[in-house]
Amino acid sequence: MRAEDWDQRYAEQAQWSSGPNELVAELLAGLPPGAAVDLAAGEGRHALWLAERGWRVTAVDFSDVGLDRGRARPGADRVDWVTADVRTWTAAPGSLDLVLVAYLHLPVQEMADLLTRAVGLLRPGGSLLVLGHDVANLHEGVGGPQDPEILHSVGRLEPVARLLDVDRLAQVRRPTPHGIALDALLLGRRPA
Ligand SMILES: C[S@@+](CC[C@H](N)C(=O)[O-])C[C@H]1O[C@@H](n2cnc3c(N)ncnc32)[C@H](O)[C@@H]1O
Repeated sequence: MRAEDWDQRYAEQAQWSSGPNELVAELLAGLPPGAAVDLAAGEGRHALWLAERGWRVTAVDFSDVGLDRGRARPGADRVDWVTADVRTWTAAPGSLDLVLVAYLHLPVQEMADLLTRAVGLLRPGGSLLVLGHDVANLHEGVGGPQDPEILHSVGRLEPVARLLDVDRLAQVRRPTPHGIALDALLLGRRPA
């Protein structure tokens, strides 16, 4: 989807979710705060949650309408909101303690390129967390994009996982009001 399509989607629908995804919160709650970027931050639910916990957060998304929702939330002044395409946005190599990529869906090669670059932005020991709809969700889960070319899987995340010391690489189940959704998860640290 293009930025204009996301703008329209956000304009039509108020907040999808104000709090962080439960698994993201569980996995990141124990990390010491540092410099983080939330790639494809949307309405900023994770960026705001991280900032509350003392992280210095940059929230990047190409939908200004989505980011505006975040900018209007309490605590928004603690986040650096950047309207940009995540495929071209960059930061100084080795400068980040955390890169979060939640429910961003791009064609397989574009996602692999983005995540490989994301690893390069991490300091040694910095964490990459990727969470998004798994391709198996199409037939065994509920919700999410229906195009198999833009969905995650453990196999598709493996090449990036090989660049990291991996804490978790798995398909995970996420209860929703409509049933169980299947997500793919990668959490790892850039080797020292
Ligand atoms: C499903 S939302 C997820 C938002 C947020 N990460 C969350 O979990 O609440 C996907 C987001 O990806 C953004 N997005 C998609 N492609 C993008 C791109 N190439 N550059 C920047 N943002 C992009 C959309 O604007 C949208 O906000």
